[in-house]
Amino acid sequence: MSNRRTFAIISHPDAGKTTLTEKLLLQGGAIHLAGEVKARGAARRARSDWMKIEQQRGISVTSSVMTFERDGVTFNLLDTPGHEDFSEDTYRTLTAVDSAIMVIDAAKGIEPQTRKLFEVCRLRSVPIITFVNKVDREGRSVFETLDEVADALALDVCPMAWPIGMGGEFKGVLDFATNQISRPEGDSREFLGKREGAEDIPADIAEEIELAQAGYPAFDIEAYRNGDLTPVYFGSALKNFGVAELIEAIAKYAPPPRPQPSDAGVINPDGKEVTGFIFKVQANMDPMHRDRIAFMRLVSGTFKRGMKLTPSGSGKPIAIHSPILFFAQDREIADNAEPGDIIGIPNHGTLRVGDTLSETNKVRFTGLPNFAPEILRRVALKDPTKTKQLRKALDDLSEEGVIQVFYPEIGAQWIVGVVGQLQLEVLISRLEAEYKVEAVLEASPFDTARWLRGSDAALKAFADFNLSNLAKDRDGDPVFMARSSWDVGYQQEKNPELVFSATKER
Ligand code: G4P
Repeated sequence: MSNRRTFAIISHPDAGKTTLTEKLLLQGGAIHLAGEVKARGAARRARSDWMKIEQQRGISVTSSVMTFERDGVTFNLLDTPGHEDFSEDTYRTLTAVDSAIMVIDAAKGIEPQTRKLFEVCRLRSVPIITFVNKVDREGRSVFETLDEVADALALDVCPMAWPIGMGGEFKGVLDFATNQISRPEGDSREFLGKREGAEDIPADIAEEIELAQAGYPAFDIEAYRNGDLTPVYFGSALKNFGVAELIEAIAKYAPPPRPQPSDAGVINPDGKEVTGFIFKVQANMDPMHRDRIAFMRLVSGTFKRGMKLTPSGSGKPIAIHSPILFFAQDREIADNAEPGDIIGIPNHGTLRVGDTLSETNKVRFTGLPNFAPEILRRVALKDPTKTKQLRKALDDLSEEGVIQVFYPEIGAQWIVGVVGQLQLEVLISRLEAEYKVEAVLEASPFDTARWLRGSDAALKAFADFNLSNLAKDRDGDPVFMARSSWDVGYQQEKNPELVFSATKER
């Protein structure tokens, strides 16, 4: 069985993702750190190491992949940008992982972004381990937290441990499997005592534990891997408490690289042919160069440096001579990658998000969705002679996943769509810096976009009545531009032969 565990951390800002990431890397002896993790101590050294490589290669990778090893297991941690606003980038990163850790603040429970990210995980049946963080602070009752996870996310929850008190009263965590308490004064793995009944555990907590063990389902690895049950751990990322247990849980329970759906059937990781898909493209931060790094998740086969692979988008084979591999401590052995690993491929815009790469060019991975944007804006040029540049820029940036672009059937006012406000700022500054296009964003007459699917006849009949509400996306696919979500429901009801979809698979 593969020793790779490729996962992401999902959380609401401030729940402790950065702190936890840092502790995971420190415990695992991080190798390369390419990310926004606030570098401290060993992590800072690993990071500067990485920056040297960036300089040598003249590229810049801000938040992406962090790899560490522990007890013979290689962990690939994919960073999901932690802004209040999240972008499609975040969503797509979740298409490249086999499991996720959901970090919850013990005092706050499930927050809006946790829920959104969770929905994406559910869409792809990504199994989730829950880490209730900040138990060193006064939190809510453990039952309340567990019940909230169960109710809000419609998941079975299985506490794997139980905090003995919280905040100032916090005395440690009882691990149900070993029946041992680990205490906060030491490393969380240094068990300082066995459970000894009443002196160790206050009566009210002993009662809680009994109730918990009777009241929640037992751990069932199948249910977890199907995404129906989440095992719950407790700890403090800040105090490095409960982190080792979390890593062990990922090693033990989290699925190794999973088979991936494709139009040629399911592709298994033990297949011989090298295949993978691009889940993220990051443009160079240096505006003088148009180099990009495409991040490929390897699905099957053993990748070797210099190998020729064909991207489904262009259909033209490319030799991958200078892949960026995130896992090799020793650059010499960085020439191979296994399923579950991520490879960064420098390119000049030939690789697009959603592309499949393979040796034979016969496979197309499915299930890499575009999400309907939640914010739409009309793009207006300050200098109308720059229309061509604007079109090129919008095409490029939508290819990169920064924005989505919609070209209405009537009129020449292009609409951009984003999932989070931050993307709009990125759009404006990149238009200026990289394309020398000054643009402003105006209110859009539309509120919502839905991809349309249906027979040609049905689409045509719909277009006859609704042309002013139709647009084409970057790929030329039809999109219904609605003035309100009510409109979507209304049209869906009136046109049952059409599908109004909030996602689009490439
Ligand atoms: P994020 O990436 O999810 O946004 O969260 P981050 O790790 O940056 O943590 C947010 C704040 O919560 C930080 O405090 C951090 O120190 C604190 N924190 C994280 N884990 C724990 C924990 O287990 N216990 C306690 N008590 N606090 C925790 P800050 O003051 O905003 O930042 P900083 O100045 O400490 O860096």
